[in-house]
Amino acid sequence: MITVTRIGKHLGAEISGVDLSKPLDNNTFTQIAKAFFDNEVVFLRNQKLTEAQHVAFSRRFGELEAHVRKESRKPGFPEILVVSNVLDEHDKPVGSQDAGRFWHSDLSYKKEPSLCSLLYAIEVPVKDGTALGDTQFASTTAAYEALPDEMKQRLRGMKNVHSYVYYRNKNRQAQKEAAARGGRVVTEYELSEEQLKSVPDVEVPVVRTHPVTGRKGLFVNEAHTSHVAGVSKEESDRLLAFLCRHIVQPEFIYRHTWRPGDLLMWDNCVVQHKATFDYDLPLRRLMYRTTVRGPAIA
Ligand code: OGA
Ligand code: MN
Repeated sequence: MITVTRIGKHLGAEISGVDLSKPLDNNTFTQIAKAFFDNEVVFLRNQKLTEAQHVAFSRRFGELEAHVRKESRKPGFPEILVVSNVLDEHDKPVGSQDAGRFWHSDLSYKKEPSLCSLLYAIEVPVKDGTALGDTQFASTTAAYEALPDEMKQRLRGMKNVHSYVYYRNKNRQAQKEAAARGGRVVTEYELSEEQLKSVPDVEVPVVRTHPVTGRKGLFVNEAHTSHVAGVSKEESDRLLAFLCRHIVQPEFIYRHTWRPGDLLMWDNCVVQHKATFDYDLPLRRLMYRTTVRGPAIA
């Protein structure tokens, strides 16, 4: 029997009674998918998944993406992005060390942005009995619904540009500032010209309609949105600052504290997320992510 327990006010639910390492019949899968789209973020505790099982479950939601940063892929499993602070025996990072520094949704800068991501926790840092490295999730449907009518009106038909290059430069700047403070600096991977060409800027609606549920959410994020199209830089800056702050107000957020064995998935169409870098080696954090491709934005 599958049970769905809502946790956050606007998003986030725990699904229990399912072992994802076992064959999953269509009826159970349909219930999971419904719980997922209704709740925007869902998680299952105490899962024991091989890479192949993680990939197979994810595939039921659609085609998987192999991340543009090849160095962060799990060897033998190109669809798995390793998200970790762990270094290998040559002191090379085993995965992406800086995923989620800013509020974002995954691959929002692609023509076919991600539908959802599934993150599986293998190692979670714990200090003095407290788990570190939480992830926060914000519902952009709840944020949109809470806007005053005049603002909803104003945003109608408005577009914004999502840019991988903008994101990379922003990340670089953050690294420089961290270095200047004597803070945590992570290895950066340069994308080749060819890789950069595979992620050109895209212009997409500020208010996006969910391809499955039809709900409206704000599709603007601080990591990837370079500007609002068709307005002055000042207006764009003002509007972005307003929207990005509005989306991440506490009432629209579910904060997940990880345990090893958690498989958590979020809806990239209407949820933004952000990592918490409150741990460092020797405390290890190791997660595997699969990323489901979504449709081009209509
Ligand atoms: C991601 C991501 C945040 C985290 O995997 O897409 O942003 O807390 N992760 O690991
Ligand atoms: Mn992410």
